[in-house]
Amino acid sequence: MPGRNFLFIPGPTNVPRRIQNAMYVEQEDMRAMDLPEFTKPLYEDLKKVFKTKNGRIFIFPASGTGGWESAVSNTLNAGDKVLMSGFGHFSNLWIDLCQRWGLDVQALEVDWGEGVPVEKYAEILVADKNHEIKAVFATQNETATGVASDIAGVRKALDACSHPALLFVDGVSSVASIDFRMDEWGVDLCVSGSQKGFMLPTGLGIVCASEKALACRENSNLPKTFFDWNDQIKTNDLGYFPYTPLRANPVNAVPIPVSVLTKRIRVLPVYLCSLAAAEVTPHLLTENPQLFLSWEKP
Ligand SMILES: Cc1ncc(COP(=O)(O)O)c(C=O)c1O
Repeated sequence: MPGRNFLFIPGPTNVPRRIQNAMYVEQEDMRAMDLPEFTKPLYEDLKKVFKTKNGRIFIFPASGTGGWESAVSNTLNAGDKVLMSGFGHFSNLWIDLCQRWGLDVQALEVDWGEGVPVEKYAEILVADKNHEIKAVFATQNETATGVASDIAGVRKALDACSHPALLFVDGVSSVASIDFRMDEWGVDLCVSGSQKGFMLPTGLGIVCASEKALACRENSNLPKTFFDWNDQIKTNDLGYFPYTPLRANPVNAVPIPVSVLTKRIRVLPVYLCSLAAAEVTPHLLTENPQLFLSWEKP
């Protein structure tokens, strides 16, 4: 068929021409002397997208699922009790991943079409006097249903009973698409991916960790190699990666959406448009017109 083949699914999103063009580069040396000039500002820009000052960004050649695995395996311990809720395909997959990692998962079953049961979380946290729950999980946007959850509300529930559990957020289809505030909402781990709000091809798991989450890696006993934050930190601080990074493709194009997203000018929310398939767009549009910015011309 002639012309562009537009995707009308809730992600992967369409990749704007400007981003596609930025990916047409020759293979590059991932140990080049000038690589840090590219990577270091990238981390700083990504922090702006997550709205964090002291959080730390990790970019893995992976996907959202890899980001989940990195967040869990670097901060928690085998048998840790965690509070989760399932209300769609992706929130249930995250539960499955945590169960397979050997965590003691308290998974609340929620009707599809609803989101994180904040009041129920609050009750459970208040009752957890000995602070056995080590982490609370929330999928901010359940892509399967298009339902967004109240992350600030989950933080309030934790603070109301001074509960020290880590707050994990799945931001795969929310970061850079709908409002997300890492620092203001006291989020400890946020997992995203390249193929939705970032308007990039699939292939990157992007994780943002708070200082509190970073400190947990000292005691975390879950096994990790590919996703080990210590290896990342050692090399990322120098502007490099511990192994062959995804270099010539999506990573090259990251600075473009990041600059577009941080300046919030003419952002391309094809992701949100594609949610039309889930029949939520008209509602979102009328309630939150600021979420729908204009298509950036290629
Ligand atoms: C909300 C959400 N979480 C997690 C995932 C899994 O991410 P990936 O398929 O990139 O591994 C997806 C994928 O669509 C998602 O929408």
